[in-house]
Amino acid sequence: TPLVVRTIKELRETLARRRSETSGLKTGFVPTMGFLHDGHGSLIRRSAAENGLTVLSIFVNPLQFGPTEDLDRYPRDEERDLKLAQREGADIVFLPSVQEMYPRRALTRVLVSEVTESLCGASRPGHFDGVGTVVSKLFHIVEPTRAYFGLKDAQQVAVVQQMVDDLNFNVEIVACPTLREQDGLALSSRNVYLSPQQRVEALVLSRTLQQASHWSKEAGITAGQLEERVRLALSRSPLASIDYAELRRYPSLEAIEPQQQLDEALQHSPLLLALAVRFGNTRLIDNAILSMK
Ligand code: PAJ
Repeated sequence: TPLVVRTIKELRETLARRRSETSGLKTGFVPTMGFLHDGHGSLIRRSAAENGLTVLSIFVNPLQFGPTEDLDRYPRDEERDLKLAQREGADIVFLPSVQEMYPRRALTRVLVSEVTESLCGASRPGHFDGVGTVVSKLFHIVEPTRAYFGLKDAQQVAVVQQMVDDLNFNVEIVACPTLREQDGLALSSRNVYLSPQQRVEALVLSRTLQQASHWSKEAGITAGQLEERVRLALSRSPLASIDYAELRRYPSLEAIEPQQQLDEALQHSPLLLALAVRFGNTRLIDNAILSMK
C-alpha cells in the first residue's frame, strides 16, 4: 500500500531517506486534484513504469479556482483515490491540507504570459496563475526527475513546459494522451456533475473533434472554415453552450489567420483544436492536436 503523507516536512524526510538508500533513484511525479479516474491512472502507471519511485499528489488547489467556480463542490473521495493509487503503482501519496500548502497569505505568484492569455486562460482569469504557483511549489517539495501531465489539458502542458524552461526547473515534463470512455467522452472528474441527458449530449465534443480531424485533410480548407464547421456542429446540441472552439498553434498557442490554409499552417507547427463547452453549470474541455500526415 502506498505511504500516505500529509506534511511537507514528512514528505521531504521520506524522499531524502529513499534517495540515500538507492543512489540514482528516479522520481516520477503525478500532480492531481483527486477524485481519480483512469486518466489519472494512466499517468500513475506510466510513471511507475519509468521511475523507481512514484509520488502522487492530491490537492484541490484553491488558488486556481475563480470566485464563482466549483471549488466548494469539487468532488472528493480519499478512500477510493487511495485504492486507485495503490492499484496503479504509486509509492507515496502526498495529501496536504490547504493550511499546509498555504499557511499564511502568500505574496508570491508564478505568472506565465502569452500562452496563458487565450482559451482557458481567457475564460478563467487567474486560473493559470494558480496552476503555475502550485505546480512550482509541488516541484520544489517533491524535486521529481519527471512529471506527468495529461494532454486533455493541453494548454496546462504548454504553460508548465514554458515555466520549466523559463525558470530552469530540473524536471522533464512528460505529456500523456487523453483517456476516453468507450463512447469517446474524455475522462474527467467533473463528468459526475452531468445529468443523464447532458451526459448523452456531451459526446458532441469528442464526435466533433473526430469529424474535424477528417475535415482538416480536405484540400484547401482554411483555419476559419474548420472553426466555422466545428462551431456549427457543436451548436446543434441544444444543451451545449460554446465557451470557445479555436484552432491555435501548439505549443506556442499563437493565433492562426482565418484565411490560412491548414496544410500550409501545419508546415510550421502542429495545431491545437481546443473546445470548451458548458452543459448547465458544468464546463467540459477536450481537444485534438493536428499534425502533418
Ligand atoms: P486534475 O484535473 O486532477 O488532473 C490531473 C492530471 O490528470 C492532469 O495532468 C490532467 O491533464 C490529467 N488528466 C485529466 N483527465 C485526463 C484524461 N482523460 N486522460 C489523461 N490525463 C488526464 O490538472 C490538474 O488536476 C491541476 O491543474 C494540477 C495540475 C494538479 C494543479 O493543481
